[in-house]
Amino acid sequence: MSREACIAERFRPFGASIFAEMTRLANQHKAVNLSQGFPDFDGPDGAKQAAIAAIHAGHAQYARMIGVPDLNRAIADSWAARGYGTIDPEANVTVTSGCSEAIINTLVGILNPGDEVIFFEPYFDFYTAGAAMAGATPKFVALHPPRKGESAFWLDPNELRAAFTPRTRAILVNTPHNPTGKVFTREELEMIAGLCREHDVIAITDEVYEHLIYEKSLPHIPMATLPEMWDRTITLSSMGKTFSLTGWKVGWAIAPPHLSAGVRAAHQFMTFSTATPLQYGAAAAIREPGDYSVRLRELFASNRDRLSAALRDCGLIVHPSHSTYFLMADHSPLGFADDRAFVTHLIEKIGVAAIPPTGFYNRKELGKPLVRFAFCKKAETMDEAIKRLRALRPAM
Ligand SMILES: Cc1ncc(COP(=O)(O)O)c(C=O)c1O
Repeated sequence: MSREACIAERFRPFGASIFAEMTRLANQHKAVNLSQGFPDFDGPDGAKQAAIAAIHAGHAQYARMIGVPDLNRAIADSWAARGYGTIDPEANVTVTSGCSEAIINTLVGILNPGDEVIFFEPYFDFYTAGAAMAGATPKFVALHPPRKGESAFWLDPNELRAAFTPRTRAILVNTPHNPTGKVFTREELEMIAGLCREHDVIAITDEVYEHLIYEKSLPHIPMATLPEMWDRTITLSSMGKTFSLTGWKVGWAIAPPHLSAGVRAAHQFMTFSTATPLQYGAAAAIREPGDYSVRLRELFASNRDRLSAALRDCGLIVHPSHSTYFLMADHSPLGFADDRAFVTHLIEKIGVAAIPPTGFYNRKELGKPLVRFAFCKKAETMDEAIKRLRALRPAM
């Protein structure tokens, strides 16, 4: 048998995960890892104690397919407590193994081969892989970097409108947005919602960073809460980012029964159910969040500000990030050939790892001048990265 990598055609365009590659390079060169988005500290004690208690209590077998009842209820209660409306934990909530699995379940569960799905670029790379698994055709609409005097990445309503065709089945909106740190405004969401209604399209929203917004003037607005949108929206999220427990992989989809049906049709054959004790831990964290999110936001906002200042001092153009734990910067004033060349130099010569974002773009040229940094680290880790960045000079 041939020893050539045996990879199905649908996965060939995606290559190896850029996150794994950059983390491996960061370790190899002992670089401060501001590439992959995971905190270098632990989540809240309450969650951990509840998961340990669930293990001791013998919650060791398969969980219910749609989620441990206590967690479905905690997710529904939290949705209602934030004023988003009353939902049914059994009919509307499906627990998944992270938001990642919820994304794949949704795309594979509702799309047929030949359907079109609209993504904004830059995008989280699971979206395009999920569309490929579903045999669906992705259409891309750019989020453009802020121009002089603008404070956020922006979308062109004409470009968006042009992406809708009679084959469009769904649009995926990630707000708050990785990697730009953009929070979609009410006006933008209403414009997207209007197009969904006009073309009878399903809205899928990825809201994993819903609790990590740093600007009071930019509240998180779930698309499902806009007029006439509940019936056509699947809201995806997880606990990983909110509670710094990315390795737990507990996520969920919130949707009306006719859309939950598609998510569940895929989920039952994808993983069937999610780690039982961790669901008890997640329920405890969601019910009793304490001031964890408040402290996390304080740390991340300070990290963001310090990193932005350091990058500006090195000559980069730093695009404002209002949320998530990422920021995008334009490295072109430093004269490197593209994002790969810049990040390779950064890792090997400066000792700081970041992500070259061309992998988040369909039109690669849009990503070449950019670099993504993660700032979800301890203050000391950021100190070390900032110290090393002082050695950064323009390319010869
Ligand atoms: C936009 C976005 N969606 C989903 C995920 C995955 O979430 P989870 O870790 O819960 O699978 C990530 C993780 O980086 C993300 O950035």
